[in-house]
Amino acid sequence: MDSLFLCPVCGKALDRQETGYRCPGGHSFDKAAAGYVHLLPANKKHAKDPGDDKGMAAARNRFLSGGWYAPLRDRLAELALRYTPDRCVVLDAGCGEGYYTAGVYAALKKAGKQVKLAGVDLSKHALKKAAKREKDGEFAVASVYGLPVADRCVHLLLNCFSPLALEEFLRVLRPGGVYFYVVPGARHLWELKEVLYDDPYPNTEKLTPYPGLTYQEVAEVDEVLRLPDQQTISDLFQMTPYFWKTPKRGAERLAALDGLEVTASFRIHVFRKDG
Ligand SMILES: C[S@@+](CC[C@H](N)C(=O)[O-])C[C@H]1O[C@@H](n2cnc3c(N)ncnc32)[C@H](O)[C@@H]1O
Ligand SMILES: [Zn+2]
Repeated sequence: MDSLFLCPVCGKALDRQETGYRCPGGHSFDKAAAGYVHLLPANKKHAKDPGDDKGMAAARNRFLSGGWYAPLRDRLAELALRYTPDRCVVLDAGCGEGYYTAGVYAALKKAGKQVKLAGVDLSKHALKKAAKREKDGEFAVASVYGLPVADRCVHLLLNCFSPLALEEFLRVLRPGGVYFYVVPGARHLWELKEVLYDDPYPNTEKLTPYPGLTYQEVAEVDEVLRLPDQQTISDLFQMTPYFWKTPKRGAERLAALDGLEVTASFRIHVFRKDG
């Protein structure tokens, strides 16, 4: 079966088989039991277990599966419907556990589109969940800075809170293809930051034009989440960059809460690759 992935050794197209992938040059890559494939060249591995660790992946999974960020998923699905042709290739760069990947895919399929779907991430813990969540998709351990994907084949590139690898994104996008870049809005998680920091500051919101891409729109998603217990609060905290850099006192204040009303605010920057 055709695959969207390329051999990380010789760059030729991979053929997707039941238990793994093979290239015409004879290189082969087994699929893990969960269904994803490891395509990260050994010399590109920065740590023994790169990406989110197991605990963080589990926290993200509980939080996302709880539906707290469903409004963002649904808005992404709506935009995807609008911006893709009836036959399309969708790539989620830094897909994590595939929550948005699967949401977008389901909406496109439901509308009768023919979709080839792939996701890459450095975290195998997250990919295990992604591959289970959407069995029709292909998922690979790979870096967004070296996507194992051919030039100019992607109609929709998703990037939700993952590193921006502009050169690679421009390489894999088709002319006229679209790029959804999801970033936090100014007041995203403001009430959480108020607990964590004595002097929180809002995120900067700005337009970020990139050469080779033309802005189509910035879609806004704003919701108030009523987190009902400490587990959900802690799961959300672990998904944020603040988890790494919060002073102990702030983290203790958060750990003492048994509920929190918090703003979730996202901006989806929609770009089209110049033709
Ligand atoms: C904040 S998470 C977002 C995951 C997913 N898009 C979501 O919104 O649920 C960032 C993800 O980027 C991944 N990541 C970090 N650096 C990466 C890289 N160089 N290549 C691919 N993935 C990377 C992490 O493993 C993590 O899953
Ligand atoms: Zn090969």
